[in-house]
Amino acid sequence: MYSEKVMDHFMNPRNVGEIENAEAVGQVGNAKCGDIMKMYLKIDNDIITDVKFKTFGCGSAIATSSMATEMIKGKTVKEALKLTNKAVAEALDGLPPVKMHCSVLAEQAVKAAIYNYAKERNLVYEELDGFDPDEDHDHHDHGEEE
Ligand code: FES
Repeated sequence: MYSEKVMDHFMNPRNVGEIENAEAVGQVGNAKCGDIMKMYLKIDNDIITDVKFKTFGCGSAIATSSMATEMIKGKTVKEALKLTNKAVAEALDGLPPVKMHCSVLAEQAVKAAIYNYAKERNLVYEELDGFDPDEDHDHHDHGEEE
């Protein structure tokens, strides 16, 4: 049911932890399953130099947050904002359809961190237009379930 990559990132998640004095910290939750994801970004000169995460959630949420951290490390803030849950799921060789919504949490956690970062610094990123960090993220589920 799960790809080898999903199992690998679930069993050995990369970049677990916290970053003290991180420039960007974001937390999102899925109201339906109660899973929570927190993302810490170290940003230097618009480059994401370090990423760590903590996920209290299912295996797919852990695997996708792990993969998401790897995908945005070394990227610019704008590039990280373009990360989609689909791209994360593809990088993991796919997720079962009923688990796609878990990958949404990873995309949203990155966005929530950058949202807070931008707000504190009065920066505007058009990629964040309409983004609401407090919204029930399950509604972003792209029709894969229910
Ligand atoms: Fe909640 Fe996967 S079941 S994020």
